[in-house]
Amino acid sequence: MNKMQAPSAHCTSDEHRQLLAAACRAALVAGRLIKKGYDQPHNITMKGAINLVTEADFVAEAAIIASLGEDTPGLPIMAEESSATHIQRDAKRFWVVDPLDGTTNFAHGFPFFAVSIALLAEGKPMVAAIYAPMFDELFCATRGGGAWLNGRPIQVTGTGQLIEALVGTGFPYELDQTLPGVIRQLTAVLAKVRDIRRAGAAALDLAYVACGRLDGFYEINLQPWDTAAGWLLVEEAGGRVSEFSGGTYSPFGSTILASNGMLHQSLLHLLQ
Ligand code: IPD
Ligand code: CA
Ligand code: CA
Repeated sequence: MNKMQAPSAHCTSDEHRQLLAAACRAALVAGRLIKKGYDQPHNITMKGAINLVTEADFVAEAAIIASLGEDTPGLPIMAEESSATHIQRDAKRFWVVDPLDGTTNFAHGFPFFAVSIALLAEGKPMVAAIYAPMFDELFCATRGGGAWLNGRPIQVTGTGQLIEALVGTGFPYELDQTLPGVIRQLTAVLAKVRDIRRAGAAALDLAYVACGRLDGFYEINLQPWDTAAGWLLVEEAGGRVSEFSGGTYSPFGSTILASNGMLHQSLLHLLQ
């Protein structure tokens, strides 16, 4: 089975299959370009005091837009670096693209980063592809069709005890206002779980929940391109995604908790 194929037992419609193939092709093309640039000097510009953007973000985004444009002409694209604000977020269906999630890692030669692409339809992800080029790992999902890593089905862990849980998190770029809350939540969670990881790429963190490398993940102030694909992966792998309130997750909301499901209530309790 090649990386992009859904296992045949899963019920994926032809349309989803085609959309997924488009997402995977774009993610692989962009990921290979990013990998090529990894060992080269970077052209870094600042979007904020600690928020970087590199040449690779733009190169990857252009390649994704070209690839999706060829495979799915006419479908709008919300892409982080070029069109984030140009699209009506309530358009019926559109691609949501993070060309390089984990730019800080990329710029520092820390190999944990990924390309993240999802198709949102009426606010919900229908297909998802997250590709980590340095590990050559392609995570895919279709709504109702399951989730898989390099062609093999994946599922969340069965961990039921916080003390046995490895939990991922991340910190927002804008810490001025948010630091006290971030520290409060970190203190509450760290005291109860086995350990915490801040690996630096939210989309890949979510993919790691989906494939059982993490038992849960939480963060505040993420953007739709950070979470849309990972949200679908986690749900299709049997996990749960919500706001910190426990309410239905929205990629336009400000909090996300993803878990294996079994730990969800306990983690919500710590975060509230
Ligand atoms: C960032 C990463 C990071 C998270 C930040 C995101 P970027 O995305 O996902 O882990 O903590 O909040 O903005 O800027 O590297 O695409
Ligand atoms: Ca991102
Ligand atoms: Ca990015």
